[in-house]
Parts: sequence; C-alpha cells; structure tokens
Amino acid sequence: MNNTLPHSHHTSLEFGASSLSDSLQSAALSGLENSSKTLPSALFYDAVGARLFEEICKLPEYYPTRTETAILRQYAPALASRIGADAVLIDYGSGSGEKAQFLLDQLPTLTAYVPLDVSREQLMQLAAERSAQHPLLQVLPICADYTEPFDFPYLPYQARYIAFFPGSTVGNFHPPDAADFLAQIRQTVMPDGKLILGVDRRKNPDILHAAYNDRLGLTAAFNLNILRHLNREMNATFNISHFRHLAFFNEEISRIEMHLESLVTHQVMINDQLIHFDAGETIRTEYSYKYNEESLNTLLEASGFQIDQLFTDRREWFWIALLNPIPD
Ligand code: AVJ
Repeated sequence: MNNTLPHSHHTSLEFGASSLSDSLQSAALSGLENSSKTLPSALFYDAVGARLFEEICKLPEYYPTRTETAILRQYAPALASRIGADAVLIDYGSGSGEKAQFLLDQLPTLTAYVPLDVSREQLMQLAAERSAQHPLLQVLPICADYTEPFDFPYLPYQARYIAFFPGSTVGNFHPPDAADFLAQIRQTVMPDGKLILGVDRRKNPDILHAAYNDRLGLTAAFNLNILRHLNREMNATFNISHFRHLAFFNEEISRIEMHLESLVTHQVMINDQLIHFDAGETIRTEYSYKYNEESLNTLLEASGFQIDQLFTDRREWFWIALLNPIPD
C-alpha cells in the first residue's frame, strides 16, 4: 500500500498544534458566535467519538446501521454485478470500513479501494487491515473532512469511479447542501461512474426518537463529547455538566435535531474568544433528515443523479440507492 497520508488541510505539524484543520476550527468558532449556536457535526469524530459511534451502531434502538447492513448483505451480489470489473471504490466516511467490506468481498477485480475519513487513527488501521486482506488491491487512504473542499491526490486514471456514501450521512446535510455535495460526487465519478447512497427513510416518530435517545445514554455521551473535543483541541473551557443532550424529531421538516442545551447562564472561552450562554440556550450539533420518495426524488433531481435501482429492507426503513449520473 501507499504509506503517505495526505491531509488537505494540515499544514502545521508542530508539537502541541491542534489536530483540527483551520477551516474546521473557524467553522466551530463562527458557529458558536452565531445567534443560534451550531457546531459542525465533523467534530463528533475524534478517537473517543468514533468509538462511541461504533457502540451506538450496536444499540437495539439505533436501527439505521443494522438495517443498512442487512440490505447490503442481501444485495451486495446484485450491486457488484451492476458495478462490474475494474472499478475504483471511493468510500466516503469509511469509519471502521465494515460496510464497504460487503462490496469488496463481491468485487475481486476491483482496481483500488479509496477509504476517506476524518479520523486518522481509524483510517490508518483500516488501510493496513484491507491491504493485508487483499494483497493485490491498491489501498489509497485519504484523511479529509469531505464536507470541506479537498482533492484526491492519487486516484488511478481512466478508471470507473464508484462512490459509496452509506450510513445515511447525506441526511446530516441541509437538503440544498446535500444536493451540492452529491453534485460534487457526480463530478468526481463522471462520466461512467455510479453512486451507492444510504438513505434513512421517514418512519414512525417514536422509533426515530428512541434511536437518538437511547436508554444507555451513549448518544448523549457522543453528543457531549464534542465539547471535550473542543476543550482539548481549541483550548475551550466547557464544563460538560453545564450541558445536557437534547434530540427530537421535527415532523414539519422531517429531521432529527440534536442539540446541547446549556443548563445555566454562563460563559466559555474558546481559542481566546468568550462565548455567552443563556440558561436553556442550545447549540445545534446535528440534523438527520429522513427522506420519503418525494424528497428523495427532489434531492436527486437537484444533484444530477437518476435511480438505477432502489434496495430496501422488509420494514421499509432504509434505502440503498444505486444511482447513475444524468449526462450533461
Ligand atoms: C452517522 C451521521 C448518519 O445521523 O444517525 C448517530 C450519527 N447521531 N446518533 C445519524 C448519529 C446520533 C448518524 N450519522
């Protein structure tokens, strides 16, 4: 495997420097200086957050991972036959890499596997593992926050690119931004590539609520960990016990909203800036949009993709959408 690991935002390698890119740090600061406070969801995934998310995926209440995995397991052969030989698989937000594994196992002629993730430790581990398992496969890890502009430093030329964007992560974008992001993927995979997209479907609000308010409190810990991350990487002074986890389904807009609610009026320092919190004020940390046929079609139309095939589960809770770019 190739051992260099470029990071599109990293310029500083000094000891003690933040491992967060400048753009993510300024996004965090401006989010907190906003009148309705927000933080970028990318901040969830430090080493602890990545571990917590893996544990969330195993919770009985958190259906998305299990449901998507079942669809992938069942339909990986069908997906592989549509992908064909000699493709390059680009795994957006590879995480522990388990989902792409279903495709890799069915694609012995794959030219290259390109896992892409913000979590550097996890990415390195995954790259090493996959290289060991598939000695003939080129594994080309890229450490980047794909919500920010980045380039692919070394994609094989003249290959067919298959973008894989599972986990319903597309639901974390505001729909117009989701369309922009998918349109960017379309530019990457053109002209004869494909996109395999995981989409969480709209369903009974009780099921949605439980998935983001688990009984063990792992989602709460995951949400609050973002503040610890800022304490460590941006010299912030958040007192975790001054905040509580808040997650609810906004039915009108068909999205889960996650917030951190300040329990008291207080102030916090972050990178030498003072941030004021009223009691009851919240920081929005994540949206998770839930799609139906109509909103999915609107999204795809706006991003220049058309449906090749939709795969779903028995309960119709989740989609794996196989998509083709609409030619210009
Ligand atoms: C991986 C971003 C899709 O929105 O459900 C899990 C993250 N947040 N529990 C989601 C998450 C709270 C997850 N995504």
